[in-house]
Amino acid sequence: MHGQWSSRLVFILAVAGSAVGLGNIWKFPYVAGQNGGGAFVLVYLLCVFGVGLPIMIAEILLGRRGRRNPLSTMRILGREESGSTRWQWVGLMGMVCGFLILSFYSVIAGWTLHYFLLAVGDSFAGADADQIGQLFDGLVGSVSSQALWHSVFMAVTTLVVARGLKGGLEQAVRIMVPALVAIMLGLLVYSITSGDFARGVTFLFRPDFSALTANGVLAALGQAFFSLSVGMGAVMAYGAYLPQQESIVQTSFAVVSADTAVALLAGLVIFPIVFANGLDPAEGAGLVFQTLPLALDQMPGGTVVGAMFFLLLAFAGLTSSISLMEPVVAWLIEARDMSRAGAGVLCGTAVWLLGFLTLLSFNVAADWKFLRGTWFDNIDYLTSNILLPAGGFCITVFAGWVMSRESSAEEIGFSSGWVYTVWRMLARYVAPIAVLLVFLNAIGVFADGSP
Ligand code: TRP
Repeated sequence: MHGQWSSRLVFILAVAGSAVGLGNIWKFPYVAGQNGGGAFVLVYLLCVFGVGLPIMIAEILLGRRGRRNPLSTMRILGREESGSTRWQWVGLMGMVCGFLILSFYSVIAGWTLHYFLLAVGDSFAGADADQIGQLFDGLVGSVSSQALWHSVFMAVTTLVVARGLKGGLEQAVRIMVPALVAIMLGLLVYSITSGDFARGVTFLFRPDFSALTANGVLAALGQAFFSLSVGMGAVMAYGAYLPQQESIVQTSFAVVSADTAVALLAGLVIFPIVFANGLDPAEGAGLVFQTLPLALDQMPGGTVVGAMFFLLLAFAGLTSSISLMEPVVAWLIEARDMSRAGAGVLCGTAVWLLGFLTLLSFNVAADWKFLRGTWFDNIDYLTSNILLPAGGFCITVFAGWVMSRESSAEEIGFSSGWVYTVWRMLARYVAPIAVLLVFLNAIGVFADGSP
């Protein structure tokens, strides 16, 4: 049996710490930029509240009912509710997915650690967009720098997971996420006063549907899952520690809203800088690293602000990365009788090794392309756009259709009233149908004429 979180606030902090991470600040702006802005953002918001939110509620309620790691939870609840243990495959798929995500997440988190040092060393001083671009190219071109920081980040993640989730970490989230937001608000002031704010806002919020492809819609769905940490059991693993009397719906709503606010804030900071400097919004994975230093260089106190920003971003990454590892580690402990330390070190080492493929895909193996592109492109696409939506689909189908109304009502706390009704409608119809339609759309089923 699991332990329990000491309070609801701690649980909210843990789930929010999982959700808010590189996905909001690094990934959201660049994926939105690659998919044309406004229309993507609109679809993203629909996915967040129509699909991601009900699935987060479903994950937490399954986790709390099962009170175990996601694989055992799905097996036990599957047996209880339908007499079949094959739902455990959803848990297994989630563990594999978290493993794959963490292998590249750590490399990107490593970039932010490197940028922390660059900021401390005042390396952005006086640099123009070209020189900032070269700094980034230098980093991703270097196997040794990336290997160093990837190793540091994985070592810290492993250490925290191996020691258990309680303790310092909740304090960290409590202080660091608000601090990160405060710095971003400072950056926002810079973007409003010195960036091309009007153009940034237009790009982000005026939908131009001609810029959005079927694959862009899938990317929006995938980004919603990724940013909210749903679809692979991370939130389910955390839900297992939630005391019975706490409200799942309120917690989920708070986390989803906060996560979305941080992502939009990041977009509002970054795109005005992109346009003011003549950069390309579709630049790709380097977007944040090629824009923020320009602002930091020109801002009063930019060196200190920049150093703090990148360090806090790495911490936001850490509170996310531990949630990616928790399902596997909890499973190794509970089902394979390993110690937490042993399980943590085993997973950490395996993920660390796998991460080298991502790291090399930016330099030595940059030309090794198959399917969607490099190794990183493929792992990113497979996890965000396929595995997370597929996992989320199974979770919402299970919670909405397989699980009895009595069981889900009992976890949510009430069966009458509009909150339960709305959740159940979203979980049974809206979320699964939306995921299916977006998948079918992306493989070209609705395209008339040429694909
Ligand atoms: N949501 C995190 C971010 O935005 C990443 C993350 C943590 C995640 N746990 C997850 C993504 C579980 C998918 C599934 O950075």
